[in-house]
Amino acid sequence: MNGFNPLKTVIDKIPIPTQRLTEVLRVEGISKVFKQKEHTVNALKNIHCTIYHGEMVAIMGTSGSGKSTFLNMISAIDAPTEGKILLFGEEANDIYKEPNASKFRKENIGFVFQSFHLLQDLNVEDNIALPLILNDVPSKEIKARVEQVMKQLHIDKWRKHRPHELSGGQKQRVAIGRAIITNPPILLADEPTGALDVNTTDDILQLLVSLQENMEQTILLVTHDPYVATYANRVLFFHDGAIMDSYHNQKTAEDLDAIVAKFKVISRGEH
Ligand SMILES: Nc1ncnc2c1ncn2[C@@H]1O[C@H](COP(=O)(O)OP(=O)(O)OP(=O)(O)O)[C@@H](O)[C@H]1O
Ligand SMILES: [Mg+2]
Repeated sequence: MNGFNPLKTVIDKIPIPTQRLTEVLRVEGISKVFKQKEHTVNALKNIHCTIYHGEMVAIMGTSGSGKSTFLNMISAIDAPTEGKILLFGEEANDIYKEPNASKFRKENIGFVFQSFHLLQDLNVEDNIALPLILNDVPSKEIKARVEQVMKQLHIDKWRKHRPHELSGGQKQRVAIGRAIITNPPILLADEPTGALDVNTTDDILQLLVSLQENMEQTILLVTHDPYVATYANRVLFFHDGAIMDSYHNQKTAEDLDAIVAKFKVISRGEH
């Protein structure tokens, strides 16, 4: 024997995970029924999913498939009919009543919207600082943190500008700054590039990827656009209130075709 063990050589090459995946958000059996006089809508039907620390997950789905309803449930804007959510493995109890709902949102979620939702009378610095001001953070700390975020997002040049003096891409950078200023465990972005041109869309998506890769920011992104979904690690496909399929991006040229193909099947309801 010369001591060569082919099996051992193979085993040595298997990468050993250095850290276990940390669960940030777990959704367990969430259903939502909207009861109206004439009819009932089952907007979400027994949704289960887990989002891990530092992941970017895209949610795609046909119109009316339940995407916004889903975001509303996980951000305590609206209560599910059934099911629960867990944050870092612990059940988020009683989050659907005020003042708990606002507290839950303030502590755990940063929001980015298609239409930016900036305050027109405040300049860039103050728009970004707003969540900290509302949290009574000492002004010295606010100043330092805002400075850090503006530099990180390359918007410090426009610190004294008001939103109407900024381009769409610049506005979205400010909105992202405001969303991450409190270091929220989850960043929720609802069509964040829906109002932007192609080049600016790339810019903003690269920025989200850099937050995810460098700051381990967990991001949940809703989009209709398969190209946007290629920037995520994982795509969940919603249809008719259910998660019908998912896809792990390989970060290769094949991702876009694979996502388009899955989305077409989902949209036609071929299951
Ligand atoms: N407040 C409500 N009352 C009654 N029905 C509702 C309410 N909100 C949503 N729905 C219904 O629930 C279903 C899911 O709606 P939702 O807004 O979650 O879809 P979506 O996937 O976000 O669609 P879009 O891509 O068009 O934004 C739809 O049939 C919708 O009509
Ligand atoms: Mg919607």
